[in-house]
Amino acid sequence: MQLFLDTTDTAVLKDLAATGLVDGVTTNPTLIARSGRPMAQVIAEICDLVEGPVSAEVAAMDVEGMLAEGRKLSAIATNVVVKVPLTRNGLIATTAFAHEGIQTNVTLCFSASQALLAAKAGASYISPFIGRLDDHGADGMALIGEIRAIYDNYGFDTEILAASIRTPAHVTAAALAGADCATIPPATFEALFKHPLTDKGLEQFMADWAKTGQSIL
Ligand code: G3P
Repeated sequence: MQLFLDTTDTAVLKDLAATGLVDGVTTNPTLIARSGRPMAQVIAEICDLVEGPVSAEVAAMDVEGMLAEGRKLSAIATNVVVKVPLTRNGLIATTAFAHEGIQTNVTLCFSASQALLAAKAGASYISPFIGRLDDHGADGMALIGEIRAIYDNYGFDTEILAASIRTPAHVTAAALAGADCATIPPATFEALFKHPLTDKGLEQFMADWAKTGQSIL
């Protein structure tokens, strides 16, 4: 499973990328706005920090605007993936990008039928928003399983990028449901390392080791 960070915070990204466990990054207009910095600068900096795919989202709603913006975003770095919304125009643009060899991440997916259309349009990635479905009283994780089944039934290559992740349990459940990738907020990524029994066990190991008076070196 590929683990992406859902962030534009380049300092936090640099720190977590040093673990070697960050496979890519996703951004969105809200995260760009939160950075308070020019989009092209942030995306270029992120692309320098990770080798893997970096999603940068178009803002245009019309096909020609999406194509123009996507081509400009794609030119920033070879690992840019153009993010488009799951709308009629977004899927028309997705097909055009596929013919141009530009990788796409179709975002704001909330149903299996939407995901089916995105795969047929040639999307490189589909981003079903688990947390927002849960917030809406639906079962976000069930959607991952439905998309997995549909994509496997027909051999679609589109990668399932579980998004709107809220907890480590979401990451585990998405992996069990067969998602290819998960994009994770930095705080949740940090929480993946943690378990109280690990801390407790390590404390005991270190206490017992200290009693030996030995040194390994
Ligand atoms: O960036 C895509 C997605 O992960 C954002 O989800 O619900 O945290 O805004 P959310």
